Amino acid sequence: MTQQFNPKIWPQTTTSENGVIKIGGCSLSALAQQFGTPAFILDETDFKARAQSWFNALQIHFGENAGVVYYAAKAFISKEIAKWVEQAGLGLDVCTGGELAVAQAAGFPAARIEMHGNNKSESEIVAAIDYRVETIVLDSLQEIERVARIAHQKAVVQKVLLRLTPGVEAHTHEAISTAHEDVKFGFSIASGAAWDAVLAVKKHESLSLQGFHAHIGSQIFASDAYATSAERLIEMLAKYQAQFGEALPELDLGGGYGIAYVDSDDPLSAEDAIAQLSIAVKDACKRHGVKIPKISIEPGRAIVGPAMVTLYEVGTTKDVKLEDGSSRWYVSVDGGMSDNLRTALYDAQYSVSLVNRDSAAPLRASRLVGKHCETGDIVIKDVNLPSDIVPGDLLATPATGAYGRSMASNYNHMTRPPVVVVSNKTARTIIRRETSADLLALEVEEAPIGISAEIPAIGRGIGIGIEGVE
Ligand SMILES: Cc1ncc(COP(=O)(O)O)c(C=O)c1O
Repeated sequence: MTQQFNPKIWPQTTTSENGVIKIGGCSLSALAQQFGTPAFILDETDFKARAQSWFNALQIHFGENAGVVYYAAKAFISKEIAKWVEQAGLGLDVCTGGELAVAQAAGFPAARIEMHGNNKSESEIVAAIDYRVETIVLDSLQEIERVARIAHQKAVVQKVLLRLTPGVEAHTHEAISTAHEDVKFGFSIASGAAWDAVLAVKKHESLSLQGFHAHIGSQIFASDAYATSAERLIEMLAKYQAQFGEALPELDLGGGYGIAYVDSDDPLSAEDAIAQLSIAVKDACKRHGVKIPKISIEPGRAIVGPAMVTLYEVGTTKDVKLEDGSSRWYVSVDGGMSDNLRTALYDAQYSVSLVNRDSAAPLRASRLVGKHCETGDIVIKDVNLPSDIVPGDLLATPATGAYGRSMASNYNHMTRPPVVVVSNKTARTIIRRETSADLLALEVEEAPIGISAEIPAIGRGIGIGIEGVE
């Protein structure tokens, strides 16, 4: 029996023939043998095609008003990915000094970088301005002052956007919904905080306000939430124009475009999502009497999510009797919440397939779990698995490219899996597997340093001074 792999969920180049499952022309069994498990397998063709499709969609539907497709680095970044993103003509959305450091190490052009974050440190702002990133997205009144001061000190006029919360319910999990009122991100339009932020930015000659930004959440399927968000931001553009007699040139409408994790998920293609967005934007601009600004977007998951699968080996299986008399089959793999936190964090759903052989065995109600010391260490809560699965079998969970490796941890001193790129029957590691030696290397044995309680707080805020250390 040849298994079917839903092309909406699996990487584009996945093939299945007589129990041999390949991605990028490489058999998953051979990859497991060569690189070990767990491992993230990344389909280069798939990633590049998706990046291109978002780029093309923005160009086609917004034409001269197309801004930048900023790939959201938080979904997954490495130097290699940054290079692919650059080659595809995309920009990069970074939200920490660490993500910026990867961009710099890859030589990513500063003119296509946008810096996010709700609590950027002084040193992150300095690093961003020193690298001359094109845009900093401002998120609080304190940050407006901070960025203005640092830009002034460096004699730079920094282009900025204001992150606004348009009060949109995006119908996604609460933890990944970001633009209703009670969140830590941005300035509320409804409360007037957004307008106060505009006035605060205008006071500084070292800041050049380019427009507004909103990101309404993640894993969103419906285009109406984006339309509402765009409408509210465009209203703000109109208010600005009426007040100051000039138009702001840019709107960044964020990321969050959903992908398919299970068969019932039905995401919009890049083409459809942007076609619908452009109708909403053009209509709102017409109604509010503003020129269509440059429109930028920030997809992360929709580019890297479906391009990767996680390859696991089964270690144990266990039949657990439940109170109602039924039983559940627990199948344990050699990873878990340290390489995929999303199930524990957001009740995320995933699919899984047996990938080292075909099976005609009847399916069995199962739970796919990891090897961590947590009951919540679940990869898939409810899934039907072939009942002949045995230790040593290989399982692959598709669509793990976004927020998988990037949220991975060392819980239980597990070493984070490698990322292996497959393409044209070749495979290469772009991030190697961590080793226990890597983790032990963080431990230091140093002589105790005396801490004086007399030393006043150094630098900013109140703190305990450590001699010579800020
Ligand atoms: C500001 C911002 N932009 C873009 C993204 C990317 O979202 P997604 O990967 O769902 O497209 C995020 C995700 O949290 C975000 O916070």
